[in-house]
Amino acid sequence: MTRALTALATRVMPLAFVAMAMVSVSQFWIQHGPKQSTIAAFYDRSIDTMQQHAWVVLALTGLFWAVAIAGWLHEKNRPPLRIENGGLLMDILDRLTNRQVLENKIAEEPQAIVIDSDKLANALKSKVIGQDAVCEDMAQQIRRRLALKQRGKPVGIFMLAGPPGTGKSYLAKCLATELQKKLFHFDMTQFSSGAYAASQLFGAAKGYVGSDTYGKLTAALRDTPDAVILLDEFEKAHSEVHKNFLTAWNDGFVTEASDGKQISSTEAIFVLTTNAATDALQALSETYANDVDELRRSSINALHEAGFAPEVLNRIDRVFVFKPLSGLDIARVTALEIEVMIKGYDLDIAEGGIDPDILFDMMKRQQRLGMGASSRDLLRAVEESIADTLISAKQKGYKTVKLVARDGVVKAEAAQ
Ligand SMILES: Nc1ncnc2c1ncn2[C@@H]1O[C@H](COP(=O)(O)OP(=O)(O)OP(=O)(O)O)[C@@H](O)[C@H]1O
Ligand SMILES: [Mg+2]
Repeated sequence: MTRALTALATRVMPLAFVAMAMVSVSQFWIQHGPKQSTIAAFYDRSIDTMQQHAWVVLALTGLFWAVAIAGWLHEKNRPPLRIENGGLLMDILDRLTNRQVLENKIAEEPQAIVIDSDKLANALKSKVIGQDAVCEDMAQQIRRRLALKQRGKPVGIFMLAGPPGTGKSYLAKCLATELQKKLFHFDMTQFSSGAYAASQLFGAAKGYVGSDTYGKLTAALRDTPDAVILLDEFEKAHSEVHKNFLTAWNDGFVTEASDGKQISSTEAIFVLTTNAATDALQALSETYANDVDELRRSSINALHEAGFAPEVLNRIDRVFVFKPLSGLDIARVTALEIEVMIKGYDLDIAEGGIDPDILFDMMKRQQRLGMGASSRDLLRAVEESIADTLISAKQKGYKTVKLVARDGVVKAEAAQ
């Protein structure tokens, strides 16, 4: 009923305005136009008729105003058709559907995430020393891939190749920290024994040992779909395990063997590391230092020759080649490690608190070990040389220390 009134009022109002405009024009004509015009005669006759039927005219005018006022009131109390944000027709959705459910569904849709790749690259470079090109390339790749909304495949499958102890696993950890994602670290050398290895990661079929729990990888992806999955020394895993990963990467899900459930892998980032083809990759990274595409292509060939299955290599989105640490980068990694170790003993390090002689000795030691030396040797050497003196510093109640070299021995002293 109110809707009918509204419709009537909205139609009558413009007509009423036109009628009033016509009355005004004709009155103007009567007063200022030529006398005895047909319009003036018509107007006089109309006024006579209205005077004779005054009650009818009054009733019609009253009805007109009643309809107009009712329509206006109804319009005034009607909820706004549009809300400012996005101009959605919210009242229609409230009336004709369940808007809340619809909004929840929209919120559940995978959202494109745009990250600041410069910020990410700088954060990675400040932690992973001497691998600036890798950090920058990685940040760009992550930015592009996170921004892709429709993917149906993991965010990225990255291969980090290079000599031992150059920061490959460490970069994966730093990446997870910077992206505020959980890291799951799998040492693939532990999954080299065929079907059993696959069942450890992807679950065991009903009736087999272990079928009452989820596999380590399926459980990880079920609980944290957007995790960073680090697969260290990937080539060491059994080919059966590789096959399962290919499904995860190609189809965008892994199947848990115990209950047959499909678990999405589309939000995860897979980081594979390898020491394979280190020398060849090293030579290639020098030859194609300025040609990323050619480096990637030839690196894949080198990894193929080193025994990587082509179907695995085909699925890898990008190969990042790590450089061996050299020169001041060795000193930087050593200094960082010393800082971590001092903090590990709940002590602080004074500014400028590492004697340069300590770092110089470490660099020379590393050079003596040659190209085969990894930062692990460095860490071991650091630990051996400073652990005891840090323990006694702690016992003496020092809070902030500096490290000095005295006759080839490192000593922790209280900093003023
Ligand atoms: N480039 C680097 N910058 C900073 N720290 C580093 C770097 N490389 C190594 N380190 C330190 O050495 C540790 C061991 O390095 P990491 O495990 O990343 O080596 P890797 O390249 O994965 O070697 P591997 O191939 O033997 O697994 C790291 O946890 C980190 O503390
Ligand atoms: Mg590693």
